[in-house]
Amino acid sequence: MIEQLLENNRRWAEGWSRRDPGFLPSLAREQRPDYLWIGCADSRVPANEVIDVAPGQLFVHRNVANLTPPSDLNFLAVLSFAVKVLHVKHIIVCGHHGCGGIEAALKDERHGIVDHWLAPVRATYRHHRVEIDALADEDARIDRLAEFNVVDRVQDIADTTIVRDTWKKGQKLAIHGWIYRLADGLIRDLEVTASQPEDVD
Ligand code: CO
Repeated sequence: MIEQLLENNRRWAEGWSRRDPGFLPSLAREQRPDYLWIGCADSRVPANEVIDVAPGQLFVHRNVANLTPPSDLNFLAVLSFAVKVLHVKHIIVCGHHGCGGIEAALKDERHGIVDHWLAPVRATYRHHRVEIDALADEDARIDRLAEFNVVDRVQDIADTTIVRDTWKKGQKLAIHGWIYRLADGLIRDLEVTASQPEDVD
């Protein structure tokens, strides 16, 4: 099975060199992505594929439940590099319905270390508990919490000094919140875009 992946890769690279011989060599020289994608690690939401963009267009950070903890050095390093060095113009936080991380946070079950990682999702749930618990269907509760999680993560990012200093300098940067539906592959804009400090509240 693993050899098949290498075979796939050879076919993929040959495809590019046939269709556009200069493309991969141009990527070897530099990357100039306009977008930073922050998404879930879930295998069913491959960032480049669901928005159909070629290599080089998307800087990507993925983890369980698309979280953005200000204590996470990995996330901060990605955010800082994307904004300060690559000068991305858009940050997209894309959650998804049916997210296992969100489900784990919603239920009082033990899953190990990941339960600590999911603490921000439980905080989001507490803030929106009345609305979420009013939904009779469990899948609907998970999906609604996934949406609230995206909204709160957009706020997390907008609250970082990295983003505040970028806006202060007058550099254009918009943070968007999206939700992806596994069943039909469609993304919905949650319309919580922040492109200046006043947008955050
Ligand atoms: Co997920």
